[in-house]
Amino acid sequence: MKLFSRNSFIFDTNTTHLNTAQFISESSLEKIEKASFTWQTPSNIALIKYWGKSNPQIPKNASISFTLNNCHTKTTIDFLKKEKSMEAEFKLFFEGKEKAEFKPKIAEFFKRIQQYCPYVLEYDMTIHSENSFPHSSGIASSASGLSAIAMCLISLEAALNPGLTQEFINKKASFLARLGSGSASRSIEGPLVVWGAHPEIEGSSDLFGVPFPYKVHPNFNNYKDAILLVDKGEKQVSSTIGHNLMIDHAYAENRFKQANENLSQMADILQSGDLKAFVSLVESEALTLHAMMLTSIPYFILMKPNTLEVIQKVWQYRQENNSNLCFTLDAGANVHLLYPESEEAPVNHFIENTLSPFCEKKQYIYDHVGAGAKQV
Ligand code: PMV
Repeated sequence: MKLFSRNSFIFDTNTTHLNTAQFISESSLEKIEKASFTWQTPSNIALIKYWGKSNPQIPKNASISFTLNNCHTKTTIDFLKKEKSMEAEFKLFFEGKEKAEFKPKIAEFFKRIQQYCPYVLEYDMTIHSENSFPHSSGIASSASGLSAIAMCLISLEAALNPGLTQEFINKKASFLARLGSGSASRSIEGPLVVWGAHPEIEGSSDLFGVPFPYKVHPNFNNYKDAILLVDKGEKQVSSTIGHNLMIDHAYAENRFKQANENLSQMADILQSGDLKAFVSLVESEALTLHAMMLTSIPYFILMKPNTLEVIQKVWQYRQENNSNLCFTLDAGANVHLLYPESEEAPVNHFIENTLSPFCEKKQYIYDHVGAGAKQV
């Protein structure tokens, strides 16, 4: 049970939010022999980070992210009716090639969701997937990848059971995506999604992401994210291992409490438009995430020398230009630069001239906040 108190208000998140029965699909009304759905779903970048979970994919604290636009996965699933089997049967193609090495993760995902989507046992599935960003760019594709599969599944469910509301469809898609990869729950909608029960975010839940429910200040409209590809190699430590190292971590409980408090602050900032406060909080969250890695046992470092070079340059640029440019980090060495649309021209100039030499092959990706999943 997680208890928060803020302004002497105590909130028990468990009892109110863990109703999973609502996601078990009804037996199908329609008979469908063959169907095919294609969805494009984006990656997201967390402003308040999720790091630490309990089973099954329940976050230890609430998080919030900007949904991205250009970094996305496009996935088609072809469904062909068959006799019901004991486990999901599927073929998986990534960028046109059959990928046996990606199958175990997806097989595990189908196992986790089959109680909520029994129809996955009744269809042969052929999955074709491709990313808009370069493969092995060090950009995690699990959020966009799993959310795209979840959208294809929920499309079949909506066809089998006409009448599902859009609200339920989005909630269940996020619920399913979460069971594949926690942060994928935040890739169904946009522009800002909260995942994890939090007393000050109405409708928030540990089971699925919800759009930030309050009016966001126009300073954050079309916010920019430039992703600097500092290191395109594979991470040495997977996020699954990283999350597990939060169990028994010396600072874990304080971190979870701090993240929930930071989300309260972020909710205020998003409404007031206070960009200076945004910059401080976003950077503090990024460094705290990495501080958890530095202080876990065993400890590890995902930043590279050029990650720190970029951070120093960003700080210098901000001071010299009274800018609101800031950085954040995922569980990797690449740097996400966040900045308001009003600063787009000078910041892009700074990236191209000063920061690109710190990127592998001078590569970076311009992205911005987006609206979430799109059917293709
Ligand atoms: O969704 P996962 O299990 O890959 O975890 C992602 C965690 C971070 O990207 C580091 C933070 C976040 O909230 O997205």
